[in-house]
Amino acid sequence: MYSLVLVVCAAALTHSALAAKVCSKPPEVLFATINVVKTVYDVGEEIEYTCRPGFVPNNGQRKYTCQPTGKWPLNTLLCLPVTCPPPSLSEFGVLSYRHVKPGNISYYKDTIIFECVPPLALIGNETATCQADGTWSNIPECRAVTCPAPSGIENGFLNFAVRRTYHYNETVSFSCQSRYVLEGPKYSRCEKTGNWSTKPTCKEPCKMPVKKAVVLYEGEKKRVQSDLKEGILHGETVSFFCKNKEKSCAYTVPVQCVNGNLTLPACFKGTSQANSKQQSVHVRGNVMIHLQALFDQLICLSCTKVTGHLGRPKLRGECTEVLFSFLLYFLGPALITLLF
Ligand SMILES: *[C@@H]1O[C@H](CO)[C@@H](O)[C@H](O)[C@H]1NC(C)=O
Ligand SMILES: *[C@@H]1O[C@H](CO)[C@@H](O)[C@H](O)[C@H]1NC(C)=O
Ligand SMILES: *[C@@H]1O[C@H](CO)[C@@H](O)[C@H](O)[C@H]1NC(C)=O
Ligand SMILES: *[C@@H]1O[C@H](CO)[C@@H](O)[C@H](O)[C@H]1NC(C)=O
Ligand SMILES: *[C@@H]1O[C@H](CO)[C@@H](O)[C@H](O)[C@H]1NC(C)=O
Repeated sequence: MYSLVLVVCAAALTHSALAAKVCSKPPEVLFATINVVKTVYDVGEEIEYTCRPGFVPNNGQRKYTCQPTGKWPLNTLLCLPVTCPPPSLSEFGVLSYRHVKPGNISYYKDTIIFECVPPLALIGNETATCQADGTWSNIPECRAVTCPAPSGIENGFLNFAVRRTYHYNETVSFSCQSRYVLEGPKYSRCEKTGNWSTKPTCKEPCKMPVKKAVVLYEGEKKRVQSDLKEGILHGETVSFFCKNKEKSCAYTVPVQCVNGNLTLPACFKGTSQANSKQQSVHVRGNVMIHLQALFDQLICLSCTKVTGHLGRPKLRGECTEVLFSFLLYFLGPALITLLF
């Protein structure tokens, strides 16, 4: 067994001693590439390093030859990053720049940010990058930009606006006429293009689409004919009562005012005669139906199931959570008195 291992070892040693010398991988140089990449190089073979884009060689040697000793000569090459000189600013005084990274030497891929003295507008790209060839990617310019006197908006007006031209980056603000709702940015800015940025719009209020009805508005009962003569504002909601014939009670349907448009819910069948305030409980089979007069309208509350005798009712899904919490908030005390 031992003898076999020895024989193999000896054979290997003899082989390497007799084999021609070769060079292994040459040393790596940061930011450089080698023209021929192999694991083994023959004696006399030449390689050449090249610095990557954005890097320049120092005065070290770039070409090396695999020597008969199987070694590479001492490597003296360094690849150093390209630097960009400070940008030459012909508009010195109005155009300035700052370095993004600390330090005042700009290396390859470093960026600087330009600025113009107000009220001049910077035209072009405000950031510039130090390129592989040692130049800046761009140098913007500073220009005087003015916008014409801003025009007004429909159903609204300009606040404190003087009719004059405006400089770049100046702003004006808008307001809407009474009962109109401002949507969009309140301010408009004079832009580089010499145009005003997007102005707001004034959204129309809604007239109530019925002459007479009782509705819910801001959580309170309102009579359309007297309390909501002015209508409601854009974005506001009002709830109409619809009847559930089967249960002879009503449920609420909210609708929103959208820029002067208010659509009556399809289930709304005109004003129902105001009932006198009443509360009652009907038991049908196993279901207890609570009818509760809410703002002169009977609200469907048939959501409880009798458990055992007329004991503790469990609220069940038929009525929506919202309606329930709302009702419980307003009518809770009455309901509790009624039930217990
Ligand atoms: C870097 O800035 C310092 C002080 O701000 C200055 O003394 C130095 O000359 C600058 N170096 C270069 C290369 O501009
Ligand atoms: C501005 O230049 C930078 C390079 O310096 C580039 O990355 C950027 O996309 C450019 N921006 C515009 C808006 O052209
Ligand atoms: C424009 O004005 C705003 C203040 O309204 C200011 O914060 C911003 O820096 C200005 N922009 C320029 C490019 O001058
Ligand atoms: C900006 O104003 C120019 C005329 O100065 C016009 O041609 C261009 O359509 C306007 N751009 C926008 C976005 O309104
Ligand atoms: C109201 O809605 C209709 C259709 O949905 C639409 O054509 C109309 O422009 C809207 N009116 C307003 C003032 O938004």
